[in-house]
Amino acid sequence: MTHRRTFLKASASLAGTALAGPALSTCADPTPAQVPSSTATPEVLARDEAHWQQVRALYPAQEDIINLEQGYWGKMSNAVEAAYGRHTHRVNHELSWYARRDYPADFHSARKRTAEALGVDASDLMLTRNATESFVNLVTQYQGLGQGDAVLWADVDYPEFQKMMGWLADTRGAQGHRLALPATGTDADYLKAYADAFDAHPNLKLMVLTHVSNQHGLVLPVKRIAALARQRGIHVICDCAQSWGLMDFTLPDLDVDWAVFNLHKWIGSPVGVGALYMRAGTRAAVAPFPGEHAGDEDVSNRVHLATSNFAAFLTVPDALAFHHALGGANKQVRLQYLRQAWTDEFHDHADIELLGPASMANASGMGGVRLRGRSSEAQVGALQRRLQDEFGIFTVVRKELASGCNVRVTPQTFTPVTHLHALAEALRKIAATA
Ligand SMILES: Cc1ncc(COP(=O)(O)O)c(C=O)c1O
Repeated sequence: MTHRRTFLKASASLAGTALAGPALSTCADPTPAQVPSSTATPEVLARDEAHWQQVRALYPAQEDIINLEQGYWGKMSNAVEAAYGRHTHRVNHELSWYARRDYPADFHSARKRTAEALGVDASDLMLTRNATESFVNLVTQYQGLGQGDAVLWADVDYPEFQKMMGWLADTRGAQGHRLALPATGTDADYLKAYADAFDAHPNLKLMVLTHVSNQHGLVLPVKRIAALARQRGIHVICDCAQSWGLMDFTLPDLDVDWAVFNLHKWIGSPVGVGALYMRAGTRAAVAPFPGEHAGDEDVSNRVHLATSNFAAFLTVPDALAFHHALGGANKQVRLQYLRQAWTDEFHDHADIELLGPASMANASGMGGVRLRGRSSEAQVGALQRRLQDEFGIFTVVRKELASGCNVRVTPQTFTPVTHLHALAEALRKIAATA
């Protein structure tokens, strides 16, 4: 209670002067005051526009466009942005007087809160600057690959990660295999595609497996694919960069040994926070960061953060508190509902093609679309521009799928459902005149 009062007093005194004032506690309020509470199930709440409009008011406004490109990084709520301001002020004010004495404990606290939220021990999880840093460390420090071995990636994987897997194969004299997943499918299709690839390449040692694809929001059955890989002795790097906070899960749900995360997408932290997970007992296959001490008892020696954005890490508990106040399941179901709101009428449509999930089990809040038969970069670029110029709807082109390019559509939880109805109408009109 004392803690909550302190927080509220501090927030009030900083209103309008977020970057001024004395150094404040780095603790986050566990239940951010303004988040509307509800006893409704996530499914009922997903359709409660009044609730999500209250949530919308807790974020900086952007009313000039319909922004359906919320997958690059996540908007911080006003409360988290204010906390970031306070942490920035403290770091800038106290410099290394703070960093050398108190920062290590505060950083550890942020790390511990992240590990708790993901359902794992803090010694198995280290904060990093982004998912790419986590991935680079795993790949470049990987010890398990030699001449004649092979690595696997898929067309739905993050483009830079695909390139890095290719680089790894080339530099270690190994083979690299790119799997083309079906343009649309179900768990059974994806499981079969991976099982077939494992059978075709018995020399596989390492693979990347993306939980939610950045191309079109496809959710893969990670736990089942990773179990197949483990039976064959294949190390799996699970890419959760886009999934945590978009989907509601903990690491035991995925049951993978290694995973990379972002907190600056759907957890809503400041830009510059990711995480690396390596389950105890699996770390020997990845060497410590060059020059770091030996030992497998804690994953932190696989990373070297150097001088990084102290304030961003300090804001992690604030971001997690806000995320939990909204509710992980509430966020996932709301976002899936928003995807359904514009995709439902286009299943089996003559002129409009949806990419990715053929069932709700594989659907997140993100979606992919193009005009049927028009999958080149120029054609999909033209669709993206028409949405933007004629209808004020901002989206982005993704180019990596084996089946061609698509427009990626990403609402936020607080996007009004009417924005998705506007998208559906725009697609209908474009298809009719294309
Ligand atoms: C699936 C996926 N993996 C990896 C990344 C890389 O994230 P970052 O640039 O924050 O490291 C992204 C970013 O969009 C992504 O969507």
